Amino acid sequence: MADDSQKTFYLETFGCQMNAHDSEKVVGTLVSEGYRQVPTVEEAGLVLYNTCSIRDKAEQKVFNRLSDYKKFYKQGKRFGVLGCVAQQEGEKIFERAPHVSMVCGSASYRDLPQMLIQIEAGKQRVTGLDDRETDECFETEFTARTNPHRGYITIIEGCDKFCAYCVVPFTRGKERSRTSESVLAEARQMADLGYTEIQLLGQNVNSYKDPDCGSSGKKRTFAELLAAVGVVPGIRRVRFTTSHPRDFGRDIIDAIDAVPTLCDHVHLPVQSGSDRVLNAMQRLYTREQYLERISWMKAARRPISITSDVIVGFPGETEEDFAQTLALLDEVGYDAVFTFKYSPRPNTPSLALEDAIPDQEKSRRLEVLMARQREIQITRYKKYIGETLEVMVEGRNEARKQWIGRTSHNKTLNFSAPETSALQPGSYVNVRATQSFPNSLLGELVV
Ligand code: 5AD
Ligand code: SF4
Repeated sequence: MADDSQKTFYLETFGCQMNAHDSEKVVGTLVSEGYRQVPTVEEAGLVLYNTCSIRDKAEQKVFNRLSDYKKFYKQGKRFGVLGCVAQQEGEKIFERAPHVSMVCGSASYRDLPQMLIQIEAGKQRVTGLDDRETDECFETEFTARTNPHRGYITIIEGCDKFCAYCVVPFTRGKERSRTSESVLAEARQMADLGYTEIQLLGQNVNSYKDPDCGSSGKKRTFAELLAAVGVVPGIRRVRFTTSHPRDFGRDIIDAIDAVPTLCDHVHLPVQSGSDRVLNAMQRLYTREQYLERISWMKAARRPISITSDVIVGFPGETEEDFAQTLALLDEVGYDAVFTFKYSPRPNTPSLALEDAIPDQEKSRRLEVLMARQREIQITRYKKYIGETLEVMVEGRNEARKQWIGRTSHNKTLNFSAPETSALQPGSYVNVRATQSFPNSLLGELVV
């Protein structure tokens, strides 16, 4: 890796939005260290995988990739594993894939420049795995954002919740918040660069705790931070993810009511509709408490779109428990639900419980759940027909001669427009919805 012409890298990202945004920061860091990003493994000197270990399937992907490209090691390519699998498996990765030179968890990304120097110097095994107890966040001025109109800002890293099934506290370390001053400075900087939509990110944004008063002399709560980002001049839309029902306060709905730029969408993962299963999952709320939060949203001034995550087949989930989850879908009326089959993960408390529900039964429950949710969405999406909605233009589908738009509710609204209307991605236009599908709307530009 000594030859400068070889300072190229390829990065593939798996997993959640946190990982996608971490990758933007990793790319920025590498570029600032003199590396050039290339679009294929073949062209790269350094091949990096930013990995996910939320379910076993996600974890297997990286090992498949590593074995596919192993042959390139002899040609001098170097391989690095970043992110959640790196943190979870640690040095075991070197045994399983001896052609890997670097293993680095997300809590150690601050050390990447120095780790790169070691790899360039020919060191065989470089690790960044010991920072899960850190109080520091990965703050960098070199974020290489992939979209010029909407971008992520991390406000809190790690997680202290320890839900029984979840690997995140073990892979991303303990919870630590950035100062609200630093988040706001980044939001203002993005607005100056022309960004109009910001998505605040964290494993659990609701447990945000401003560590410092800063120049404002005031520690902000999450709702106050949200509202403050919403009034940054130039910002038209603010989203946030992910919320945890236990920490989700009414003040968030008050902020959405008070600040029009805050999007009318909340992703509030429920995981199960059964108190028995919620308790076994150590989710720290009951069905009733969850529904109370939903009632706050339903009482908001603007109709709020609600989405969720559900796990089926958690150890001990009975038909009756599952029936309660189905009933909860009807009661809430979600606009989207992300559904998962329970997957036992290393280190997690539920690993000690027998994973007794056969995969076939998990698949059956998943299908039943998805079919029920599809019916709910068909009904919910139909209600928009005839309404005029503001969308951010995201792009164009040439084959269909349609523009792609996204509503404040986070729904896809594809639309037609007169040939003469030269629309630009990133602009905001009004569209009248004319047709609905289970996952999207179709409409016409209002001119
Ligand atoms: N098995 C299945 N699904 C899981 N999730 C998290 N951990 C697991 C697991 N071990 C799901 C949860 C979470 C989403 C991001 O992934 O629903 O909200
Ligand atoms: Fe996957 Fe969770 Fe890590 Fe995101 S934080 S990459 S979902 S394991």
